[in-house]
Amino acid sequence: MAERTPIIAANWKMHKDHLEAIQLVQKVAYHLDEPDYEGQEVVVCPSFVALRSVQTLLQSERIPITLGAQNCHHADEGAFTGEVSVPMLARLDVRYVIVGHSERRALFDEDDGVVNAKLQAVQRYGLRPILCVGESLEQRRSGSAVDVVTGQLAASLDGVSVEDPESLVIAYEPVWAIGTGETATADDAQQMCATIREYLAEHWGQVLSENIRIQYGGSVKPGNIRSLLAGEDVDGALVGGASLSSEDFALIVAHRR
Ligand code: 13P
Repeated sequence: MAERTPIIAANWKMHKDHLEAIQLVQKVAYHLDEPDYEGQEVVVCPSFVALRSVQTLLQSERIPITLGAQNCHHADEGAFTGEVSVPMLARLDVRYVIVGHSERRALFDEDDGVVNAKLQAVQRYGLRPILCVGESLEQRRSGSAVDVVTGQLAASLDGVSVEDPESLVIAYEPVWAIGTGETATADDAQQMCATIREYLAEHWGQVLSENIRIQYGGSVKPGNIRSLLAGEDVDGALVGGASLSSEDFALIVAHRR
């Protein structure tokens, strides 16, 4: 059996200015002890304007939390007013970049082609994409969830190759479970994560697919984290709302206590 290091990531979305961001990280760290971090990776993804402050705090206080970003542009540089490039993020010690979040797809018209270009840009600079995929409620009800998710994978990963399995994370985030309080059952989450792994095995072979981490995201809370992570193909969580509370996020990270 593959030994995958679970990854718990906080997606703060458009919350927390840089001062609030510092406070939140300090409080999370206050609630956690060294053993809570061991054997898993803990990531926070603040807004762009808070990255520098959080980076400085993590370094100066030696907090074992890794920095992630919520988005990037696919070009290295250029006349793209308002955008942030991957090399800029790399200079801030950002290791993970979320790409293809359903909010970006739905609210900012990002299609699979854009997601694919962003993912490749993240890889080009040695950062690690967290690729989000997931179906809507309508798609789930009509029975097309698997087709939607595998279709997103096919298009987002077109032309992409992976050598180090830790360098790519997939997040299964059913759109109907995001910010709604509705959580996929642990079985639903496990089933789709297993389907994603099967897809990866067909494309990249068994060995690689067994070592790629697949997260679940969508109304993850302290009360459901354990059952969600019990699924053998669920290797962590991408947490939205609950990650804005230091107590809740710390409880999620410390779910093994
Ligand atoms: P919630 O945890 O608020 O449902 O958000 C999930 C999410 O979108 C994480 O990226």
